Amino acid sequence: MMKILFVCLGNICRSPMAEFVMKDLVEKQGLADQFLIASAGTSDEEHGNPVHRGTKQKLAQKGISTAGKYAVQMKRADYDAYDYLIGMEQRNLSAMRRIAGGDPEGKIHRLLDFSGRPRDIADPWYTGDFDTTYDDIYEGCQCLLNHLITEGKIYGRKTK
Ligand code: 4NP
Repeated sequence: MMKILFVCLGNICRSPMAEFVMKDLVEKQGLADQFLIASAGTSDEEHGNPVHRGTKQKLAQKGISTAGKYAVQMKRADYDAYDYLIGMEQRNLSAMRRIAGGDPEGKIHRLLDFSGRPRDIADPWYTGDFDTTYDDIYEGCQCLLNHLITEGKIYGRKTK
């Protein structure tokens, strides 16, 4: 079982979007039974809050529901519980390392470091641009899935 935790600051905009996009990708490719996918925030600010309207609306356009998701904060124990802990921007990675007490097993990565053009995913909480966030996250999730297949961690076919 491949266990992936997507992480952003609040767990209401970007990391839930990545969680549900990745779940949709692996379901469509018949790989869902090989995965456990979740998301969390480095901050406690939004704890218990539902997914942001912008993320909900963008995913609804794609036929993806975020029902049942409420914000949670990343815990130190998550470091042992997951195989990959994937942040959205450099700032998330520092906070994730602080919560985890370091990254001795090299599990903490930035989502778009799996793409051909490594970069941060801008925070739509500030930009209001959920379309760009979605495009970046979709690209990152596809690249992450291809990476897992190439590395032999998942049994599937590369899509690009
Ligand atoms: P997220 O966006 O990290 O993508 O979930 C944010 C959500 C809330 C806040 C900041 C970013 N906030 O300051 O409350």
